[in-house]
Amino acid sequence: MPAWVVVGTQWGDEGKGKATDLLADDVEYVVRYQGGNNAGHTIIAGDPTHPRTLKLHLVPSGVLYPNVTPVIGDGVVLDPGVLLEELDTLVAQGIDVSKLKISGNAHLIMPYHRELDRVTERYLGRQKLGTTKRGIGPTYADKAARVGLRVQDLYDMKIFREKLDVVLKEKNAVLSRVYNRLPMRAADIETEYAVYAERLRPYIADTMTLLHDGLEDGKTVLLEGAQGTLLDLDHGTYPFVTSSNPVAGGALTGAGLGPKDVERVIGITKAYVTRVGAGPFPTELGGESSVQRSAASGDPTGELGERMTDVGQEYGTTTGRRRRVGWFDAVLARYAARVNGLTEHFLTKLDVLSAFETLRVCRAYRYQGTDYDHFPPHQSIFHHAEPVYDQLPGWGDDLTAVGDYADLPKEARAYVDRLEELCGVPIRWVSVGPARSQTLERT
Ligand code: IMP
Repeated sequence: MPAWVVVGTQWGDEGKGKATDLLADDVEYVVRYQGGNNAGHTIIAGDPTHPRTLKLHLVPSGVLYPNVTPVIGDGVVLDPGVLLEELDTLVAQGIDVSKLKISGNAHLIMPYHRELDRVTERYLGRQKLGTTKRGIGPTYADKAARVGLRVQDLYDMKIFREKLDVVLKEKNAVLSRVYNRLPMRAADIETEYAVYAERLRPYIADTMTLLHDGLEDGKTVLLEGAQGTLLDLDHGTYPFVTSSNPVAGGALTGAGLGPKDVERVIGITKAYVTRVGAGPFPTELGGESSVQRSAASGDPTGELGERMTDVGQEYGTTTGRRRRVGWFDAVLARYAARVNGLTEHFLTKLDVLSAFETLRVCRAYRYQGTDYDHFPPHQSIFHHAEPVYDQLPGWGDDLTAVGDYADLPKEARAYVDRLEELCGVPIRWVSVGPARSQTLERT
């Protein structure tokens, strides 16, 4: 039976948690396939009269549903202390976490990874990437360099210590000689991680076999991406990306499945665009460049950008940072449709756009007199791209109480139709608020 992939089509924070919440009733497994506790899912779940807001970083959102087995797959990087804290918080809120399964192949975030993430960002100065400082990049770098420690190493402390001694020698040299930091002691790390090992033991499983057996038994597996397409290490706006592969292809390597297992790839797309951290963002509002302040953007004073951040409550779940905001970018959406092989879209936060009289949608980029309908092949073009905007009338009315797609104002439906036409992938759901009931299926 099938696997479904849920993937962010922008720079993360598209509202994937909400889509997973909606789909969770129909699946038996929800798998996180990449990233680590750099992610943040906000989920408003449960009975509409007593909705619960939960913020998750590493635990798959499937943990909230009794019919679902949540899985942390091979492609994830796992900070055991952070995971245990998150599990404790969930248990304190009355959520049963006992079904969680963790792959022994997932890589461990170590204390020196977190420290290196912090000091290298400082060292980069104005060139910094704006990482979440959770140690994600350094952990994936060690995985690729084949000096990483994996979850399974926790269960043979002799091997754990041998590997740690080798890697720590180099890390300490870098930390002390390059960054002037204090070296770390292997014995302290070993003691700390041995405690984590015991607490995590009940959750460790052969997740790849578990998922294949599930598929053979006719179960449905939901592969839940963190971050988004434009933060993908290979296909995003490198180097302003995360160090893993959020795209649908990454779901396969990160969970140990093959392409023929996947039936649907659902792109989660915000009705406008946001980005956290550094890097180019052609349709950004409230930025400083002449393109962002141009008449075409409609925001010469930066006021629209501020309004979008405030109405959309665009602050990071993980770091609390204010997100950068901008108009919908169909060039990116088209790119995401291709690179992920999207079968359908879930459009989120349409209600936020009620705050604008006129809406703009970027349909192409202009660079040195040439229009690009598709993502430009060279980063310089993307960095200097001037958006070519369509203007659409806003609707003004509050959408949050609309219960049926047909009851949306005609301008709102026209906006959705235009996005669909520009992206070339059906928009199946439209969300007009954070609660589960505020999701309109488009027929
Ligand atoms: P890292 O993943 O911490 O290495 O950060 C690399 C880049 O990805 C930075 O620009 C982060 O702001 C961004 N990033 C990482 N995780 C998320 C996320 O869940 N949502 C949005 N941006 C993210």
